[in-house]
Amino acid sequence: MLNCEPLLQWYFFHKRDFPWRTQVYVNPNDWIYQTWVCEVMSQQTLISVVLPKFKKFITELPNIAALANCSDDLLRYLWSGLGYYARARNLRNGALFILKHYQGQFPKTKKEWLQIPGCGEYTSSIITSICFSEIVPAIDGNMIRVASRLLGLKEHVWEKQGAQKIAQFMETIMQNYFSSKDPTINASPGDFNQAFMDLGSMLCKKNNPECRLCPLQNSCIAFKKNIVELCPPVKPRNATQSEQVFVLVFINKQTQSYLLVERNSGFLSKTLGFPLFAQKDGFSLQSILKNFSPSSVKMTTLQKTFQHQITHHKITGFVTLLESNWNEKKISEFSHSVSLPNKMQWTPLAELKKQLSSSLDQKVLKALS
Ligand code: ADE
Ligand code: SF4
Repeated sequence: MLNCEPLLQWYFFHKRDFPWRTQVYVNPNDWIYQTWVCEVMSQQTLISVVLPKFKKFITELPNIAALANCSDDLLRYLWSGLGYYARARNLRNGALFILKHYQGQFPKTKKEWLQIPGCGEYTSSIITSICFSEIVPAIDGNMIRVASRLLGLKEHVWEKQGAQKIAQFMETIMQNYFSSKDPTINASPGDFNQAFMDLGSMLCKKNNPECRLCPLQNSCIAFKKNIVELCPPVKPRNATQSEQVFVLVFINKQTQSYLLVERNSGFLSKTLGFPLFAQKDGFSLQSILKNFSPSSVKMTTLQKTFQHQITHHKITGFVTLLESNWNEKKISEFSHSVSLPNKMQWTPLAELKKQLSSSLDQKVLKALS
C-alpha cells in the first residue's frame, strides 16, 4: 500500500498560497463560498489567470446572496477573460438553489453538493473534502496523471475503465491514509487532495517531471520502470466544436469609417478587428443590441453569415451592419457596457484592409462588399 505520508510532509512545506488555504476567515460560510467560487473558476482555466479575477469577483459579490441576485451584465463582466461562461451562469444557479433549498446554509456532504446545479464529481468532492473533511478523492487532471504514474498505467485513463482504476486506487489509498495516519501530522482530506494536485502541477508535470525532487519517488512504478513519459497516454484530440459569433460592423456614414477594437479575450485576443461576441460567453444578438439607443445607432438590413475555422473551432459568424454617429464618449460607454477593451478607433475604408490582420476579419469585409 502506498505510503502517502512523505507527500503530505512535502505539501506542508511547499504548498502554494491560494486564498482559501491561507486566509483567516471569521465566518466559515465565507470560506466555503470562496472555495466554491475559486474551484469553479479554476476548472479549465489556469490558476494564474484565476487569482486576480477571483479577488475582484469576491469584492463585488462577497456572499451567496449577492451572487444569486447579480445581474447578467455584472456576471459577464466579472467572468470576462475566464471563458466557458456557462460556468458562471451555473454558479449563480447554484447560489439560487442553495438559498431556496438550504436557506443559504451550505450543505455538508458530497451527495448533497452533487444536487447543486453545476456541481459535478470534482467540484462536490473538492469542496466537501476541504471544508467538511469528507474522505473523498477529488479527481482532476493533475491527480489522474500522478496516479497513473504511481501505478505505471499505460492504458487510457481518459476512458471509463482507466478512470475507474484511478478512482479505485485513490479511494483506497485515501481511506487507508486516514485510518492509520500518524497522529503527529494533522492533515485533512482537503490537504490530501490538494497535495496530489500540487504535486501534479509542481513536480509531476506532463512534460519534464522532476522525479528527483519527488517525495513519492520510492513508490512510483512508472519511475522504477522508466516509463514516466509514457504515462498516461496522450488524450485524444478534442473533436471539432461548433461555435457561433456575432460580429458588429459599425459604419460612420459621414466620415465613411469603420469601428475597430483591440479584442482582449477569447477568439483572436490581442488582434485589431471588428467587435466580436461569442455565443458561448453568453451573448445573443438581442442581448448586445439592447445596449444601443435607436437615436445613435441604426440597424441596417444588411446581415450576412460566413464560416471560419480556428484550430478545432468551427465558427459560424453573423455579421450585422450598424450605422452610427458616435463620438469618443459614446464609444467608451458602449465599451464598458459590453466589457470591450478600451482601444478603439474609427478607420477609413481605404485603410481597413491594412489594419485587419486576421483572416476572420477579412472574411467579414468580404461578406460586406
Ligand atoms: N487547482 C484547482 N483547485 C486546486 C486546489 N484546490 N489545489 C491545487 N490545485 C488546484
Ligand atoms: Fe511523478 Fe516522478 Fe514522482 Fe513518479 S516519481 S510521482 S513520475 S514526479
